[in-house]
Amino acid sequence: MIDTKSNSINNLNKISIAPMMDCTDRHFRMIMRQISSKALLYTEMIVAQSLIFSDKKRRFLDFNKDEHPIAIQFGGDDPFLLSEVAKMAQDWEYDEINFNVGCPSPRVSSGNFGASLMNSPTQVAKCIEALKKNSNLPVTVKHRIGVDENDSFTHLNKFVQTLSLAGADRFIVHARKALLKGLNPKENRTIPPLRYDIVKKLKEENPKLLIEINGGFTSVKQCANALETFDGVMIGRSAYKHPLRWSPIDEEFYGERRKVIKASEIIFKLIPYIEDHLSQTGSSWEICKHLINLVESIPNAKKWRHNITSKSISKELKIKDLINSAKDLENIGH
Ligand SMILES: Cc1cc2nc3c(=O)[nH]c(=O)nc-3n(C[C@H](O)[C@H](O)[C@H](O)COP(=O)(O)O)c2cc1C
Repeated sequence: MIDTKSNSINNLNKISIAPMMDCTDRHFRMIMRQISSKALLYTEMIVAQSLIFSDKKRRFLDFNKDEHPIAIQFGGDDPFLLSEVAKMAQDWEYDEINFNVGCPSPRVSSGNFGASLMNSPTQVAKCIEALKKNSNLPVTVKHRIGVDENDSFTHLNKFVQTLSLAGADRFIVHARKALLKGLNPKENRTIPPLRYDIVKKLKEENPKLLIEINGGFTSVKQCANALETFDGVMIGRSAYKHPLRWSPIDEEFYGERRKVIKASEIIFKLIPYIEDHLSQTGSSWEICKHLINLVESIPNAKKWRHNITSKSISKELKIKDLINSAKDLENIGH
């Protein structure tokens, strides 16, 4: 496991893979970890209240040791509940805690958390203090550049400064404002324009704060450029849809010797993991729904994905089918 305190302070995690509901579960993270051994991975958002009152805590919290370094993302607005879940995060040996102040879902904002909390910096500060009090993990915040009419630079600047005083260790800024009235979550990830200039100004005004940028990164080169200004880059949809595109991460950003990472190699490596999951649950789809994204830009990619998808959904996929399908990829150098 990495040294969590120095991880945040020395900012080793230049690249991270964003938290994404229904995407960045433990299976996707295992796939992504074969591609980069260094990038910081995030869980999906876990609502503090749901975790505390759940009788299936392990389902929310368990992860594979190979997933380190890994941050757990919490949503909520109740400092007491957040302090309880911070303790759980530490007991489960997560490397960081991230607090969600960026989610624009109506369900989330009606509970006054997610992006709507950008309207209440003092409340967020209390949440950060609570998360810090009950764990010794770094606590970071993922937020937008503004919300609804609260979108001035002054508001954003004051927001991060307030949270820094409360103990926040790093800020991950999705470079869009959120419009809670009128746009659904998907539209809130595309319609409000990306404003890297505002995040840049935030870093210039607060050079000592660790500021990571998020939103719209689709290539390693773009990330390298952004790292000239920011302390880190978080990649979301592009990492999910095109995981292999990100195989140069370890070499480009962490000075590791480059391995050629192929889809077939990743599948072969994961066979014991998939076999184990299949024997426990009888379902391969929970893994294959992510795995199929490894196969693109080759002739018959669509056919390959369709074959795995249909067999996996109908529970007819056997491990030997997957091995044979991976061999087909290997034969064409993919
Ligand atoms: C399907 C999906 C689910 C998401 N779920 C979360 C979430 O649970 N927590 C969060 O902070 N952001 C969530 N996001 C937002 C991403 O973390 C990220 O901020 C956003 O997609 C912008 O980055 P990108 O342009 O690189 O995708 C989600 C995004 C997508 C596409």
